[in-house]
Amino acid sequence: MSHEKIETNIGWMAILIAVVISFGGLAEIVPLMYQAEAVKPIAGITPYPALQLAGRDIYVREGCYNCHSQMVRTLRHETERYGHYSLAGESVYDRPFQWGSKRTGPDLARIGGRYSNDWHRAHLINPRDVVPVSNMPGYPWMANVPVDASATVRNMRALQTLGDPYTDAQIDAAAADVAGKTELDALIAYLQGLGLQAPKG
Ligand code: HEC
Repeated sequence: MSHEKIETNIGWMAILIAVVISFGGLAEIVPLMYQAEAVKPIAGITPYPALQLAGRDIYVREGCYNCHSQMVRTLRHETERYGHYSLAGESVYDRPFQWGSKRTGPDLARIGGRYSNDWHRAHLINPRDVVPVSNMPGYPWMANVPVDASATVRNMRALQTLGDPYTDAQIDAAAADVAGKTELDALIAYLQGLGLQAPKG
């Protein structure tokens, strides 16, 4: 009897459907909220050193994430190609994280150490010099633009305020760490650091 009332009253039907769906949503979302707070950096993961942090900013500024993800999925063909699947504890100091899903180019989560600095230098200046079929744009001007040291220092201070464990000594040394370096140097340092702490295999 009461069931028939619900079925013939679209108002009640809509409200009760919303209630039922929200239970499903809550069951999935609430545990995740607590889990996010509990994610700890995996062994060896530290906040980015100054030069790598500057490189990361350039990576974000240039929109490299529009063509590259940084997340190896838990699928056989991905782990065979790139290495160990990505773990949340690798990205605790990434604000914002660069996981993404757009892959015009390969995933970069495990790119650190895969090529030499010289390879990256040639590739970033003109990708077609090393990969003839590449449709990645070149970034030749980066080789002539110095790293903005004051932006790097301010960025580190901001991250420290947000809780990243930078020491004052590290921040004081940051300007010297990036002195004389170009944006290309910084971007390469960033790429060469990606995925080094990931579990092997
Ligand atoms: C329009 C899409 C596009 C953009 C934007 C782009 N890439 Fe690429 N990238 C590619 C493609 C396609 C490849 C594969 C061919 C090659 O190696 O050049 C690639 C390859 C790479 C590789 C070699 C990966 C490997 O495993 O061999 C690196 C490193 C890389 N890109 C870094 C960058 C960085 C850093 C930026 C931003 C400054 C960037 N890419 C922007 C498309 C892009």
